Amino acid sequence: EPPPLRSVMAKHFLVGTAIEPDSIDSPADAALLAAQFSSLTAENKMKPGTIGVAEGRYDFEPADKIIAFAHAHGMAVRGHTLVWHFQSGNWKEAPDWFFAGARDEPQYRDIVAARLRKYVTDVVTHFRGKVYAWDVVNEVISDNSNQVYREDSPWYRAFGKDYIAIAFRAARAADPDVKLYINEYNTDDPNKREKLLTVIRELRAEGVSIDGVGHQMHISVNRPPLANIKQALDDVAALGLENQVTELDVSLYADSGECWRNPHACLPDLGRSVPNDVMRAQALRYRAVFDVFEHEPSIKAVTFWGYSDKHTWLSSTPVSRTNLPLLFDADLRPKAAYWTIVDPA
Ligand code: XIL
Repeated sequence: EPPPLRSVMAKHFLVGTAIEPDSIDSPADAALLAAQFSSLTAENKMKPGTIGVAEGRYDFEPADKIIAFAHAHGMAVRGHTLVWHFQSGNWKEAPDWFFAGARDEPQYRDIVAARLRKYVTDVVTHFRGKVYAWDVVNEVISDNSNQVYREDSPWYRAFGKDYIAIAFRAARAADPDVKLYINEYNTDDPNKREKLLTVIRELRAEGVSIDGVGHQMHISVNRPPLANIKQALDDVAALGLENQVTELDVSLYADSGECWRNPHACLPDLGRSVPNDVMRAQALRYRAVFDVFEHEPSIKAVTFWGYSDKHTWLSSTPVSRTNLPLLFDADLRPKAAYWTIVDPA
């Protein structure tokens, strides 16, 4: 029997998973988490949609519970996320209270900026010394070829791009030691990556402190190409920044991005009995990406977006269908994917 994942990967990077606090209440889940992982992320409970109840009112309780568990078991915690265009849970836009007021009023921008600064300051201060890294902003780059920044965001609508620098500066002022990340999906796409790198260069030229790039890495059995994944990591490292893989999962469906825009473009539900060769392909895919990660010294942590197939956002997004993207099955038994990672043949 090989040693657990966190030990096998200790010489390379931290290995984490996203969780909801209810995992801690299940003794079997809690034991698995403590044995296998060296880092935790709150799947939803550190997002503004959870913490930012109202202006100046915060709910830190579920996040604090995750942190207490992590620290009791020698695990690090990464913060996700200070600024997002969505809330947690319901895919609604970020909390309304940030944007309350009359847009045509001359003070409007300053009022929203002050709310953002206060939120970031209070949250980073609360978790100071308890989280080692923050996703300061999440998904701010556009997928659209004629836009650099995501414009379908309440933050962009209120501010243009300036909210990004405001958030980074407030985070750095509140905690000089925490690592500050910009988190993004599809960084393998050369066009998107070019935009991301340009934005990072501009922020740094303005004196904004930024430590690394989080690559969400929601991938599937056969895409994107490994070379593109490697290029994304190399390009960030070449800027002298850290890398983290922040939300790794391997979908069983070889969908294109089109499935996100048009549910009819999604491949049909595989149903309950997933063919063996699909699970085998998933295991090989996990091994292949770990081969890349293990050779990238700039990677500080690899976090999975969940641990057991009993709970994954991919069973409801982008459409509702069976998906088994993680390392342990619904009964917490290690899958082929797990074994290929800890015990490459
Ligand atoms: C997802 C959670 O997994 C879901 O439970 C929630 O309903 C919506 O958010 N990119 C991110 C994560 O940065 O925060 C998202 O998490 C998944 C996509």
